[in-house]
Amino acid sequence: MQVVKYVFQPHGDERGQLVALEELKDIPFKIKRVYYMYDTVEGVVRGCHAHKSLEQILICIHGNCKIRLDNGKEKKIIPLERPYEGVYISNNIWREMYDFSSDAVLMVLASELYDEEDYIRDYDEFINFTKDTENK
Ligand code: TYD
Repeated sequence: MQVVKYVFQPHGDERGQLVALEELKDIPFKIKRVYYMYDTVEGVVRGCHAHKSLEQILICIHGNCKIRLDNGKEKKIIPLERPYEGVYISNNIWREMYDFSSDAVLMVLASELYDEEDYIRDYDEFINFTKDTENK
């Protein structure tokens, strides 16, 4: 499985750092939704789902956490530790977010509005879904 990691350009000067993200330029899709997680309780695993069509970029803009990606055949762990790096997650990928530092703020840029219908929350269903889409 190829993991696409982004390193964004920080605009730094003597005042500090600034990262700007523009849709279809820095981010490979039109951004329809932004959400973020913070105050994540120690030991919690979030996500544990895949999406039928949603694309996302995850950026840990403060603190750090880990992302486990699974395409049904292979798993990869991606640590997110810098506010200028992100990981791209396409559709049909099972994701779990874990090992959040107590100060972690995990921001997600998403290609679609929230739609519960787009979620696959059952792992066996996800495996069947990936097999179905492979056969098409
Ligand atoms: P949930 O899907 O459990 O988060 P995750 O799978 O990433 O750990 O979402 C938690 C709650 O937030 C749930 O009640 C749905 C709601 N929610 C929205 O209203 N809009 C959103 O864009 C997202 C991602 C979640």
